[in-house]
Amino acid sequence: MKVFVTGASGYIGGSVAAALRGAGHQVVGLVRSPQKGEQVRALGIEPVLGTLDDGRLLADAALASDAVVHAADADHRAAVESMLAALAGSGKAFVHTSGSSIVGDQAWGEPGERIFDDDTPFEPGPGRAARVAVNRRVLAAAREGVRTAVISPSLIYGTGRGAHRESIQVPRLAALARKSGVARHVGSGENLWSNVHIDDLVDLYLRVLKDAPAGASYYAENGECSMRRLCEAISRALGWDGRTQGMSKQEAIAEFGEGPAAYTYGSNSRVRATRARRELGWSPRHDALLESIAREAAPG
Ligand SMILES: NC(=O)c1ccc[n+]([C@@H]2O[C@H](COP(=O)([O-])OP(=O)(O)OC[C@H]3O[C@@H](n4cnc5c(N)ncnc54)[C@H](OP(=O)(O)O)[C@@H]3O)[C@@H](O)[C@H]2O)c1
Repeated sequence: MKVFVTGASGYIGGSVAAALRGAGHQVVGLVRSPQKGEQVRALGIEPVLGTLDDGRLLADAALASDAVVHAADADHRAAVESMLAALAGSGKAFVHTSGSSIVGDQAWGEPGERIFDDDTPFEPGPGRAARVAVNRRVLAAAREGVRTAVISPSLIYGTGRGAHRESIQVPRLAALARKSGVARHVGSGENLWSNVHIDDLVDLYLRVLKDAPAGASYYAENGECSMRRLCEAISRALGWDGRTQGMSKQEAIAEFGEGPAAYTYGSNSRVRATRARRELGWSPRHDALLESIAREAAPG
């Protein structure tokens, strides 16, 4: 199979692309620079130079492939529209990458009770409304002859397999800890996030590409952890005593930006990957975020 992957030089897209190559598929990857092109070529991926704003190029690359994995940007509506329009009536798979911060509750570090499985209805906060609208647009294209799916990963950890090997949240919090001399969370840090290892997530993408019915949405998780415990693990990994420090809402916004502070670092995002397990036989092998932090966040 020939698969077009956006975000091919990134953490998720690169890891999925590498796994597809490993499984013997042909992979064409969108990259933004010749240097990134060389990096992905070294992994056996054929680079296509362009950006998500090049609608014609995206449409052509999608049409010339048997399937698309879109992992460059959860929010870029125009790119999604270009590829879906090109694929209409083709029956080809289009797998869109969103994120579980769509259910983020702006709790500013306080614990939250709500747990969402794939069928739990919700209305997103204002900062995630556009992202959820993109997800819904993708799912609706199942009625236009595209085998669409949305994967919403929770906090991803572990070393990626592509050119860029680091995830977002743990490295970002570890960098902040180094800068501050103490690991820092928003408020009390008792807010909870589900998490998933990159290798298990990649396995889910391959299963979705192969077997998902049109119009299905999947959370990806295998366990959950509070931001406070995560920061304690970062502290210990840096050789400190596990002590952490809370940030005020204003400090968090100044540090992370308003959207990430509200919907990622300070929120609860508790999801359950019920459909992936039930429909696709997905059986994640990793459940050791804190042990992984001991390796990822350690200096050097
Ligand atoms: N990592 C997580 O824990 C996580 C969890 C849930 C959801 N997500 C979402 O999944 C998506 C990918 O995340 P990631 O962790 O893989 O991020 P990443 O490592 O930064 O990868 C993003 C990739 O997309 C490319 N890209 C971004 N904007 C582009 C544009 N306008 N045109 C062409 N290429 C573009 C980047 O290219 P360059 O290499 O040139 O920068 C990079 O290759 C994001 O929307 C993120 O919010 C991530």
